[in-house]
Amino acid sequence: MKKIVIAIDGFSSCGKSTMAKDLAKEIGYTYIDTGAMYRAVTLYSLENGIIADNKIDGERLKSEIDKIKIGFKNNPNTGKPETYLNEINVETEIRKMEVANWVSPIATIGFVRHALVALQQKMGKEKGIVMDGRDIGTVVFPNAELKIFVTASPEIRAQRRVDELKSKGEKVSFEEVLENVKTRDHIDSTRKESPLKQAPDAIVLDNSEMTIAEQKAWLLVQYKKAVGE
Ligand code: DC
Repeated sequence: MKKIVIAIDGFSSCGKSTMAKDLAKEIGYTYIDTGAMYRAVTLYSLENGIIADNKIDGERLKSEIDKIKIGFKNNPNTGKPETYLNEINVETEIRKMEVANWVSPIATIGFVRHALVALQQKMGKEKGIVMDGRDIGTVVFPNAELKIFVTASPEIRAQRRVDELKSKGEKVSFEEVLENVKTRDHIDSTRKESPLKQAPDAIVLDNSEMTIAEQKAWLLVQYKKAVGE
């Protein structure tokens, strides 16, 4: 069967990655979490003093961007891909609040986006991928055969993120997370470089009232239509 590119874009914490991961597993495609790539650059910047005194040293980040090697490897126990930064597994670290608080400003930087978009295009060259992010259907793969734009209310997204962080033992308040979700929405959709916006040919999914199983089934139907099954 022909292999296609599936681009899943949308707001933060709206369950894109859960549905994208599930679909990829089901149809034997590679899943690529591009948010994790921006998070890995942010973690590198925090760990190496590029983010310090509440600001980002853009010059230093630019001079070190080629040293930041990002990749994914499957965890054989879960069957799910995990993020590696310079050969170190950072899957847990990149999900923490400190990274979440800095990732949107990092993702507004032009040279960071150019480097990561080039890497994403290389990863998807052979097709057979499900890629999730903000600009996949508009910038990374404007010719993707299937584009989905996912949305849900900020409150529902914040609650989902709180549940996820709590299950990992992080202590967070609903208000703190809601604030972070709203701030990131604002930065992500108003930035100059590839802002979050719906591609004209994307199919919109508002999953506020849907279960994970319902989303999964919905997405599988869209995939089958796209490959002409
Ligand atoms: O999906 P996420 O929450 O892990 O994404 C983290 C941040 O990265 C988010 O604030 C927006 C940014 N991002 C982006 O600008 N472009 C992408 N393709 C993916 C994520």
